[in-house]
Amino acid sequence: MASRTIELRSAPKAPSVHRGAEHRDLISIADFRPAELENLLHLARLLKANPHDFRGTLDGKMVVLFFEKPSLRTRLTFEAGVNSLGGKTFFVDQTHSRLGEREPIHDMAKNLERWVDGIVLRTFTHATVEEFALHAAVPVVNGLSDLEHPCQALADFMTLQECFGTVRDLQLAYVGDGNNVAHSLMLTAAALGASISIATPCGYEPSSDIVLQAETIAEQTGGSVLVTNDPFHAVQDADAVYTDVWASMGQESETAERERIFSDFQVNAKLMSHAAPHAVFMHCLPAHRGSEVTAEVIDGPASVVFDEAENRLHIQKAVLLQLLGNGMRRFGPQHA
Ligand code: CP
Ligand code: NVA
Repeated sequence: MASRTIELRSAPKAPSVHRGAEHRDLISIADFRPAELENLLHLARLLKANPHDFRGTLDGKMVVLFFEKPSLRTRLTFEAGVNSLGGKTFFVDQTHSRLGEREPIHDMAKNLERWVDGIVLRTFTHATVEEFALHAAVPVVNGLSDLEHPCQALADFMTLQECFGTVRDLQLAYVGDGNNVAHSLMLTAAALGASISIATPCGYEPSSDIVLQAETIAEQTGGSVLVTNDPFHAVQDADAVYTDVWASMGQESETAERERIFSDFQVNAKLMSHAAPHAVFMHCLPAHRGSEVTAEVIDGPASVVFDEAENRLHIQKAVLLQLLGNGMRRFGPQHA
């Protein structure tokens, strides 16, 4: 049989659509300048008021969610939000092993950027989110880490804008653990020119690095940051009183000890009576009635917790539209 030479021609290597593309991440509230945060909140208000105008704005976009911890609000608002804008989501339950255990985060990021347009992460360590963002050439969004919960804080300040018209000069008191939620609230308050007072038990104060970062931002915006161990001092005349769980996800083994240490930091009717008469009560949820807040307060007329939860949806849409779509540029120069 005559031999035949088969010429093997290698196909030209197609560049990944994402590699080298300019993109932004939302890892920390501090990733966005104050004016950019204002724009994001404005976009979220437009999305809430006129949802039909935004149909199809994420057509063809795919977003993957890797969650190392449970979630109701964050998962469903990202999934509903992306789908309502015409995009698709994939949820990966990562609660049984940590990201980076099976293969390096670098390699995961380099795979994902070839397949999807955005990555939402809920992680134990903040460094995991940072490492994804470092290596992935597509936007990475922090859906909660041990250090920050930026999407939550944005939804909370959107809620405050709805309650009070503006948040400039507003006084927000946060009572409880100096945790991820407290950190993102501090940075957002500082960026938007609000005042925030944080009251925690000794040893549970917010990170001093974040306090310094928030103070530096507040110097430019006219906002202010106070950290105290006295809950009554923090809530005095406040426009809004906020609390979160005493033991965050991953700290369950400390629950009994924290119940004892935090008992004077419960948000109850007595503490609320020191806030302004018009003060609203806020909580990111899930809540533990009888621990960080009484049922009387969270289920009472001052509570805006379900408005916060609703606004998670509008904020997630605004964040992804800003990072994956064209943000407000699509809606003409008046919104750009
Ligand atoms: N507030 C919040 O992030 O809720 P989930 O933990 O249910 O997502
Ligand atoms: N601080 C809480 C917030 C939950 C939304 C946690 O990290 O578990």
